Amino acid sequence: MGNRKRKKEVHELDITGAGAKGKAIAHLENGKTVMIQGAVPGDRAKVLVYKQKKRYAEGKTLEILSPSPDRIEPECRHFAYCGGCKWQNLTYEAQLRFKSDEVHQNLKRIGHLQLPEAEPILPSPGIFYYRNKLEYSFSTHRWLTETEIETEGNIELRNALGFHVPGRWDRVIDIQHCHLQPEPSNAIRNFLRDYAQKNNLSFYHPYDKVGALRSLMIRTSGIGEVMVLLQFGPADNIDHQKIMDDIKAEFPQITTALYTINHKGNESLYDQEMRIANGPGYIMEEMPAFRKGDPNLKFKIGPKTFYQTNALQAEALYRIALEFLNPQPDELLYDLYTGVGTIALYAAHSVKKVIGLELIEDSIRSAIENAKRNEIDNAEFFAGDMREVLNEAFIEKHGRPDILIVDPPREGMHPTVVKTILEIQPERWVYVSCNSATQARDLALMKDSYEVVKFQPVDMFPHTHHVENIALLQRIKSND
Ligand SMILES: C[S@@+](CC[C@H](N)C(=O)[O-])C[C@H]1O[C@@H](n2cnc3c(N)ncnc32)[C@H](O)[C@@H]1O
Repeated sequence: MGNRKRKKEVHELDITGAGAKGKAIAHLENGKTVMIQGAVPGDRAKVLVYKQKKRYAEGKTLEILSPSPDRIEPECRHFAYCGGCKWQNLTYEAQLRFKSDEVHQNLKRIGHLQLPEAEPILPSPGIFYYRNKLEYSFSTHRWLTETEIETEGNIELRNALGFHVPGRWDRVIDIQHCHLQPEPSNAIRNFLRDYAQKNNLSFYHPYDKVGALRSLMIRTSGIGEVMVLLQFGPADNIDHQKIMDDIKAEFPQITTALYTINHKGNESLYDQEMRIANGPGYIMEEMPAFRKGDPNLKFKIGPKTFYQTNALQAEALYRIALEFLNPQPDELLYDLYTGVGTIALYAAHSVKKVIGLELIEDSIRSAIENAKRNEIDNAEFFAGDMREVLNEAFIEKHGRPDILIVDPPREGMHPTVVKTILEIQPERWVYVSCNSATQARDLALMKDSYEVVKFQPVDMFPHTHHVENIALLQRIKSND
C-alpha cells in the first residue's frame, strides 16, 4: 500500500503564479502543484511541503532564496502578522497583473468561455486608506512577536486593541497604525486604548468571556461623517454613556456614537440592540449620479447596514456596469442581489422601472427608504431568497425584465437562478462578481445562450487577492 500520508519534505522551488486566497503557486519535480504561504510569484524559495492532497500539496515558505523583482518593502509595521493586506510586499502593478490573470484564467479554465479582448483592470483610486469601515477587537491576549517572547521574559502589558491574527480567534495584534481607513480612525483607536488603560477599564478575556470593552467599529463617509460603535462586554460598574461622551469630547468630528452591551459568546453585532449615545444613530454617504446633471444619491448608513467598503471604487464599478448594459428609457431592469438598492437606484433614472431583489429584509427596508430619500419613484424592492422569489409568478406580476444586473455573493448564483435567467431570456445583462471562479461556473451553464461580449476586472481591495469582475452577456441569436 502506498504511503498516503507522506512525510514533510523541504524543496527549493520557483514560485510561478498567484493562487486562490492569496497563496503562491509552484510545481514539484513531478509536476504537482503546491499552494504556498509566505512567497510571491517570481521568488525562489525554500518551502516546507507539509500536506499532500490528491490534486495538489500545501507548503509554507522557510526562506526566500532569491526575491521576486515585484517585491517591495511593505508600508505597514504590522505586515508580518496581520492578515489584512497580504500583498503589501508586492508592487501595485504586480498586484493588478495577478488579479487580471486570475480573472482570465478562471473564465477560460473553469468556464471554457470564448472571450473578447478584456478591458484593462481598473485600479483603485487610492491604494491606502480606501476603506470606510473597520472593526477592532479588545483582548487581554495580545499577540506576542517571536522577538518579544525571546527577549523580554515577563511581559506586563498583555492588553491589545486591533485585529485577530489569521487563524487565531484568541489572539489580537495591537494595532498602532492601520493603512486601511482615513483619519480619525487611527486616532480614535489609539485614544481608546490609552483611555481604557488610564481608567482601568478591563479588556475582553477570550476564555473567561468577561471584560468591559469588546469591540470598536469605526465608519467614515466621503462627506466627512464619522460613526463610532463601541461594544461593551459583561463587567460591573461601567458608566457606558460617560465613556461615549468622553470619546465624543475628544473627537468633535464624530457625528454619531452608539454602543451595545453584548453578553453572548461571540462578537457579532447583527442581533444586538443598539443604543444611541450621540447624534442621529447613522451617517450619510453620497454618490455621484450616473446621469450627468442629476443630484448626488444619498444613502443612510446605520451600524448594521451593508455598504460597499471602498465607496469611491464602488461608484466606478456601478458606472462600468451601467455603461456596459447601456440601459434605455423604455426598459424594465431587474437588479438581482440588490443589497440596500445602490445599483438599482443608481440606474433608476436611466430606465422605465427597476426592481431590486435581495435576501435580507433589513436591506430591503433600507432600499425602500433610500428610494424615498432620493425621490426615486420608479424603483420597487422585494425581499426573499433569489431561487424562490424570482419565479414565473413574480415575473408575471411585475413584468418580464428587458435587462438585468446580477451581483451575487462569493458563492455565485444558485443553478435555479441560472435556469430562471435562461427562461427570462433578457437580450443583454451584466454579471458583477467578487469571485470570478463561481462567475465562470455560472456562465459555463449559459454559454449556449449567452456570450461574453465585454468584461473588465475592477480592483476594490488593494493589497489583497480579491478582485471584482464585470461581464456583459449578449443573447446568442439562434439561426432558426
Ligand atoms: C455582493 S452583495 C451585492 C450588494 C449590492 N449589489 C451592492 O453593490 O451593494 C450580494 C448581496 O446578495 C445578497 N444575497 C446573498 N444570498 C442571497 C440569496 N440567496 N438570495 C437573495 N440575495 C442574496 C446578500 O445579502 C448581499 O446583499
